[in-house]
Amino acid sequence: MKIEGQPYRSLWWSDEKGCLEIIDQRWLPHELRIQEVRSLDDYADAIVQMRVRGAPLIGATAAYGLAIAMANDPSDASLAAAYDRLHATRPTAINLRWALDRARTALAPLDPERRAEAALALAREIAGEDVDINHAIGTHGLSLLRRLAVEAERPLNILTHCNAGWIATVDWGTATSPIYQAHDAGIDLHVWVDETRPRNQGALTAWELGSHGVPHTYITDNAGGHLMQRGLVDIIITGTDRVTRRGDVCNKIGTYLKALAAKDNGVPFWVALPSPTIDWTVSDGLREIPIEQRDPREVSHIQGAGPGGIAEIRVTPKGTPTRNDAFDVTPARLVTGFITERGLCPATEDGLAGLFPDLIARR
Ligand code: MRU
Repeated sequence: MKIEGQPYRSLWWSDEKGCLEIIDQRWLPHELRIQEVRSLDDYADAIVQMRVRGAPLIGATAAYGLAIAMANDPSDASLAAAYDRLHATRPTAINLRWALDRARTALAPLDPERRAEAALALAREIAGEDVDINHAIGTHGLSLLRRLAVEAERPLNILTHCNAGWIATVDWGTATSPIYQAHDAGIDLHVWVDETRPRNQGALTAWELGSHGVPHTYITDNAGGHLMQRGLVDIIITGTDRVTRRGDVCNKIGTYLKALAAKDNGVPFWVALPSPTIDWTVSDGLREIPIEQRDPREVSHIQGAGPGGIAEIRVTPKGTPTRNDAFDVTPARLVTGFITERGLCPATEDGLAGLFPDLIARR
């Protein structure tokens, strides 16, 4: 996508510099800062600190991280250590394990001397595939939005939570891809953007939509149900960090409450789902998906970036106990369906298996 008219991706490999470059998302939406990522420590830090974030982007970054480890030391021990180091960075988004597993499976049988080149080629392939997958999600989502837009007879109101935009992927985004494509196709639409405390990923979505000229309004996390009751939301589209084989959806904390309110108000609740985000090994999302617990300071303080750096302001009385679950699980029964790169399907095991018989069979 574009920033001030210039085409960008959220990460890119620089042959000239011999390193990966990323948009450091901690500074957005205030400042565009590009960071060079060189060592395995840099990679792990970029994911842990959420300089890169969003399930697909974490996966692509980890693939490049493994390539760097192989360039430095292509031994079996180094491959195992780099895998473990990167895998431990964040626990919930399955794309991380998916990318690392794919890379390890491809690299382990190779002669160590061939691993560095193969690992870099594979990382580029994973990043490229992500772009294609998200573009295809947008094309399928566009037909869904087109249908709803005809029924709406006024600008179509879409609500989204967190940032499942192009900076959460390599390009296009998942939830935003249908929105960008519908906007570009001339469909009259407007997006309600949940702020998504505590990290305020909604501000990233607002920045993206604003850069692309998509009409939008930033709202508090608690406003969605109220807007749905008043008929001001036609469809919800979110991204996801992990979907189980039966269709439970793990996504940013607060997604479940939106799905509940959507059910009560008859608002369709769709999830944009790239196939690498399906975890075929688990079924019951509530019991089987590890939920990341983040620093309680993100709850007790509000963060923003300014000229002096990243600033924090306390909002709670000193010493107030706080808890910071980063994700929640929306049961499949609350999900209208998935928008995948192969088309739309119901949020059921049969629905997913129907679109991805090849992937389910491998498990
Ligand atoms: O904690 P984050 O910012 O990495 O969480 C991101 C989300 O929850 C996204 O909705 C999800 O990863 C899908 S991104 C296409």
